Amino acid sequence: MLPKLINRSGRPLRRTLLRRGERYASSSISSPEVLNDFGKHHVTKGLARISEGVMVKGSGSYVEYVDGKRMLDFTCGIGVTNLGHSHPKVSQAAADQCMNIVHAQCSIAFHEPYLRLIEKLLPAMPHPSLDSFFFWNSGSEAVEGAIKMARVLTGRQNVITMQGAYHGRTFGAMAVTKSKTVYSDGVAPLMPGVFSIPYPFWHQHRLPPSTPPSVLTEECLYQLHLLLSQQTSPKDTAAIIIEPVLGEGGYVPAPKEFLEGLRAVCDQHGILLIVDEVQSGFGRTGNWFFIEESRIRPDIMLMAKGLANGFPLSGVVSRKELTDKLAPGSMGGTYAGNAVSCAAACAVADAFREENILVNVQARSQELFASLYALKDDQTLAQYILDVRGRGLMVAIEFASSEAPGAAFDPATPKGLTVKKGIASRVAKKCIEKGMLLLTTSVYEVVRFIPPLNISQEDMKKGCDIFAESLREVVKEG
Ligand SMILES: Cc1ncc(COP(=O)(O)O)c(C=O)c1O
Repeated sequence: MLPKLINRSGRPLRRTLLRRGERYASSSISSPEVLNDFGKHHVTKGLARISEGVMVKGSGSYVEYVDGKRMLDFTCGIGVTNLGHSHPKVSQAAADQCMNIVHAQCSIAFHEPYLRLIEKLLPAMPHPSLDSFFFWNSGSEAVEGAIKMARVLTGRQNVITMQGAYHGRTFGAMAVTKSKTVYSDGVAPLMPGVFSIPYPFWHQHRLPPSTPPSVLTEECLYQLHLLLSQQTSPKDTAAIIIEPVLGEGGYVPAPKEFLEGLRAVCDQHGILLIVDEVQSGFGRTGNWFFIEESRIRPDIMLMAKGLANGFPLSGVVSRKELTDKLAPGSMGGTYAGNAVSCAAACAVADAFREENILVNVQARSQELFASLYALKDDQTLAQYILDVRGRGLMVAIEFASSEAPGAAFDPATPKGLTVKKGIASRVAKKCIEKGMLLLTTSVYEVVRFIPPLNISQEDMKKGCDIFAESLREVVKEG
């Protein structure tokens, strides 16, 4: 049984969040450590965590742990709480919906928040053709839905994905995920009919970080043409799926010309282009959706994460002309498009407009980039920093590494330098010790910054300072 936590006055902990420094009455009854250990014992080891402790509260850019520890959150629960934790309007909308109807099952009838949400999202779509929606629970499910739709609509089986892509952990999503082997180690056989091409990320081509986007684009489109003539003919290829900003693969925005090239190939061969904006969408990169930069038309676009600011909700949007060909009943799910999640998402869409979120993203993004470039320009640190990249508040810094895959063959690995081992995870860990949650990403030495989109100037500065201090300490430690 879960040990019951009490504070010194004997009141149950759940009702009273401890103030900093307050201690527990008796660790023999229970303590935050005991609760943490309980979790370690009973929660599957397959689930990894970056911090110790038990989270009990989230408010704006901060989360609090059961022991009173307060952390600045530069992870947003992996790019989800874009409007900060427990945004009052979003939480209120969800609470109100709870008092009306919670489970208005989508195959029984329409429910109002579902339809209101579509009404609010339509003007934000990156292309007017995207007018037919299906809501699900998670990003992975949205990916599953898109693959299924592409196969059914084209009558073709194969899907082309990108090296370094992350699309989720369910079976279809796992098959098109190529960011790390850990997601599918020991699981094969995976869904068949998946092929991959390189992403326009300099590492994947053994080119320096300064390589012009046009060169990377040509490399990748060349590989795509080769793939379509050697491995999966266009008449067997249902879809190309792409994260317009490679997430788990290293936070790399795709150049406009590459996205245009994919669109042209899809148009030429009747292949569907699936754009996965699960992480890059909802203001994360400074626009509602990253794909707006290139103005290309996705055939199917996927969203989740920031869509409902923490309530489980994902979306698959396409054009009516396509979705009209789906057999009724072929899409669905018990909890798909839950009314509480949809009501929260409506409030998110309103808050985006009312609170000028995109303006704040631009301002804070400039400050974050300026701070990272200052580190890159610093003589004592420059040699360890390979790249600073991203868009909006989806930003990464990459460190030089001698342990990166294929480092011995990679000209990007600085020769003759004392490269710091595991620098990204060491810096992230130090930031956590200093009170800021931060994530790494990719098989390279990359730290990613995904702060709330409405973060204040003060908290952005605080985060940048903690990061700089942590980096300096790690470099000093050797
Ligand atoms: C681009 C992208 N697609 C799909 C997913 C999977 O979403 P979920 O974890 O909600 O299943 C993620 C999750 O990180 C993602 O970043």
